[in-house]
Amino acid sequence: MRPSRREFLAASLAAASASAQSGQKRFSKFDAPAKKLLASLTLEQKIGQMTQADQMFLKSIDDIETCHLGSVLSGGDSDPKSGNDFASWTELYTRLQKRALAAKPSIPILYGIDSVHGLNNVIGATVFPHNIGLGCTRNPKLIENVSRITAVETRATGIHWTFAPCVTVPQDIRWGRTYEGFSEDPKLVAQLGLAATRGLQGNDIAGPLSVLACVKHFAGDGGTTMGTGTIRREKSNENYPLDRGDTRGDESALFDLHIAPYIPSIQAGAATIMPSYSSWNGEKCSGSKHLLTEILKSKLGFEGFLISDYDAINELPGNYKQQIERSVNAGMDMFMIPSRYREFQKLLLENIKEGRVSQDRIDDAVFRILRIKFAMGIMTEGTPLLMPASAAQPRVGSAEHRSAARQAVRESVVVLKNEKKTLPIAASAKRIHVCGKNADDIGNQCGGWTITWQGASGPTTKGTTILAGIKAGTSAEVTFSLDGTGAAGAAVGIAVIGEKPYAEFFGDSTDLRLSAADVAAVRKMKSAGIPVIAVIVSGRPVVIDEILGDADAIVAAWWPGTEGAGVADILLGAHKPTGKLSFTWPAAASTSFHRGDPGYKALYPYGHGLA
Ligand code: BGC
Repeated sequence: MRPSRREFLAASLAAASASAQSGQKRFSKFDAPAKKLLASLTLEQKIGQMTQADQMFLKSIDDIETCHLGSVLSGGDSDPKSGNDFASWTELYTRLQKRALAAKPSIPILYGIDSVHGLNNVIGATVFPHNIGLGCTRNPKLIENVSRITAVETRATGIHWTFAPCVTVPQDIRWGRTYEGFSEDPKLVAQLGLAATRGLQGNDIAGPLSVLACVKHFAGDGGTTMGTGTIRREKSNENYPLDRGDTRGDESALFDLHIAPYIPSIQAGAATIMPSYSSWNGEKCSGSKHLLTEILKSKLGFEGFLISDYDAINELPGNYKQQIERSVNAGMDMFMIPSRYREFQKLLLENIKEGRVSQDRIDDAVFRILRIKFAMGIMTEGTPLLMPASAAQPRVGSAEHRSAARQAVRESVVVLKNEKKTLPIAASAKRIHVCGKNADDIGNQCGGWTITWQGASGPTTKGTTILAGIKAGTSAEVTFSLDGTGAAGAAVGIAVIGEKPYAEFFGDSTDLRLSAADVAAVRKMKSAGIPVIAVIVSGRPVVIDEILGDADAIVAAWWPGTEGAGVADILLGAHKPTGKLSFTWPAAASTSFHRGDPGYKALYPYGHGLA
């Protein structure tokens, strides 16, 4: 049962004031060393701590010292030059960290990546279902474990900061980032976001296998209204109507739907938060003092530091210098400036010298950053914490981790429809015919943010495709054709169809219908006179009315990641289905896909899922 909005808001506010009172005190024991180090830094060195450059755009590795960089990231597609294998990532991290340690003063860098569904940048690592699938498991323990494994695999490379969890609450499934959200319901997002934060950071962020969490994107990234956020990208001249858009409504609505999910993670000691590209009532979140300082830091008692999104300040009003001034004064502590970091530093310095940004604000930002560095335990001279966790390396992509991922997959699968007892497939079936573009494609089933930023089709990493999982799980003969031909005579047909991978910008879509090829594949199998199961592999609910008449059973598998055998577990009856929809599933008659709009018609309601 979902609580009413009113009940939820009341509970959130009570939790918020409790949080502010406890003041996230867990970091205060690092106040003294952070203050001492802060006092020894020059203004240029302080500005350096506030700067995060992308390793891909470093003009020289020596910029780590020359620009006193406090942090380095690998954003989407910012890979080691030698490849995306584990050794290359480990080498990249180690080389940059050693350079930071050799600098004067010797302050370790924080290295951040997007381990958003496992160590998804690295070939051979365990890739879990995206958050939308995890939301359907309704299982916080499982999500904590999945996030723990993500931390272990990430830390095995040496990297100790992930830009996760995403606690967005997508309201409009046309948004291409819908899959980054656990649910359209803020209560479920709050619960699972907390589980993820706990799993990533472990019991103590100083643990050798903990990574810093970064709860994102604050606030209202999932509430943008169709049409208001149109941005035009110069090169492609295309419109992206939802990404980086505007969320409208009063503060209690924003709090209720989009801010409340941050509170449990803040209380649990989330070390960092990423403000959103999007706006609230026309004001960019990355420049909003009300959101960043008054709400996050003062009201909610957030004691970690804020990291801006990738070049997000470029979207604030004014010239670059004014954008920097605006964001620092709003409360941003560290700036993700992939390539213009020298210019950023020069202009921030000017802003300070001209009195537009106060020394106090700089000291507050740097104090927050250094305190987290001390709390992580990486400031102790000679600490092995700074180097890749070599003992964890054999666990990357291990059978143990993959088995946890397989569990996550089978718990995320939602049985939408099951007529004539089509599911589970009878053990006596002699032949199973499988078809569809997503049946035997690891890249397609992993979705966006896998090896590359947007994800890609094909054998991009190691894992078990859904087809391979079916083959391994049955004694029946399993045949395959892409378009459904050759199904005649089989006991049952399985069409694995749906979306291809995408990430931000490129996933925004006003047309959520299945492709003509997908519909044809289902139809072809049905015309062979056999029962048909449609498995929808996608980053959001899609419009499936065109196959309703032909598919006897329909299963939502989301983007399951590398362990396709988890889908087979449900189809073949090795495990009972338990997944429940974390989003409303739309009917074709919908004239809107925005939750709550009268034109949004459900084919299957929130919470639906056959047992
Ligand atoms: C995304 C963030 C991500 C960042 C760093 C941005 O484009 O919005 O979610 O963490 O890139 O890769």
